[in-house]
Amino acid sequence: MNKSFILSAALFASSLSVSAQSTPRNQLTPTPPMGWMTWNLFQGDISDKLIRETADAMVEGGYVDAGYKYIFIDDQWQGGRDVHNNMIPDPKKFPNGIKALADYVHSKGMKLGIYSDAAQLTCGGWTASLGFEEQDARTFASWGIDYLKYDYCNAPIDSATARQRYRTMADALSKSGRDIALGICEWGQRQCEEWCEEVGGQLWRTTYDVRDMWKDVTNEGGMGILDIVNITSPLSSYARKGQWPDMDMLVVGLHGVSGPSSALGGKGCTQAEYQTQMSLWCMFSSPLAMTNDMRKVSEEDRRILLNREVIAINQDPLGKVAERKVNTDTHQIFVRPLADGSYAVALLNVSDAPLTLTADFAKLGLSGKYTVRDLWQHRDIAKNAKNWKGKVQAHETKVFRLK
Ligand code: GAL
Repeated sequence: MNKSFILSAALFASSLSVSAQSTPRNQLTPTPPMGWMTWNLFQGDISDKLIRETADAMVEGGYVDAGYKYIFIDDQWQGGRDVHNNMIPDPKKFPNGIKALADYVHSKGMKLGIYSDAAQLTCGGWTASLGFEEQDARTFASWGIDYLKYDYCNAPIDSATARQRYRTMADALSKSGRDIALGICEWGQRQCEEWCEEVGGQLWRTTYDVRDMWKDVTNEGGMGILDIVNITSPLSSYARKGQWPDMDMLVVGLHGVSGPSSALGGKGCTQAEYQTQMSLWCMFSSPLAMTNDMRKVSEEDRRILLNREVIAINQDPLGKVAERKVNTDTHQIFVRPLADGSYAVALLNVSDAPLTLTADFAKLGLSGKYTVRDLWQHRDIAKNAKNWKGKVQAHETKVFRLK
């Protein structure tokens, strides 16, 4: 066998392995991605060291085992472009480059996400991808990136342009030779739930940025947990396997610490409110992107973030998300069918005082008698039950699995 034959056989094999790897775009995220995102706490204060320490902490803390596999690098990682117009990371923040960092993250059994914007500049005014989509997608692929959050600051307001810009990036990612999922981040302002799949995206952000608060009482326009639930609930019929409503990052565990999520009234939440965020982000199969400092998480916050029974609802293979069946001034009730034939039922007390609430299963469309498991108490609480009645704290959500 001569050298050139061996070389061309190797090239042929490697081209085969590239095409064998490329997954159809609508199968890139069969369940909602889970992980940790840099933005809400660290904003631009990010580095190779922070990402490595976070990856270590996520493995040691049991988060990766529980399904939180991604680290999503958000805005302000960029260092501009080199003489060939290749995007480069900020050399002070990422002195080893992104490829070495991705290798490290992958060596932990995790995945790495990155951020760009469908304009010339990102929201923070950093280098973005308009006009360089294919080149940037190739760069991301060569670094080993698994996910791209693609923002829409500094771009035209109309929907047609947004669709076209997202499609251009999705096509570029498809051609890059690596499976890279695409999160569309136009804040639900152009009904991206309607066209996300068509343009090659996997996730559609439903609102403007989440703040670390229950709801926008100061009228500054920030999005609290309840505001996001109320905006997302009517969109739930658009969600399906591989097309997930992105309700933005989890603020669980931030406790009002300063950072982007503390703006516009983000003063922190009660544990009941954080439990509600986790419960409903799971009922709707939002991606779960934690944003607290993974190197120091309290037991109370771990209880919420690592509730595997609630996470199982988020990741349920049936991929049918919750429907809001009851919506009154005092409470809301959500129902979600699950792959094993059981149902998840969530009761949210939106009032500011404890309430005794009743869920009559037949009225929710669930005829029959059920074994009721409380997913926050981790125990079966009733057998052959046709309803549940009990106390729900102010702003708390209880989640039951009915078998
Ligand atoms: C916003 C986006 C945030 C964050 C920020 C970075 O548009 O909604 O999640 O990515 O940009 O500048």
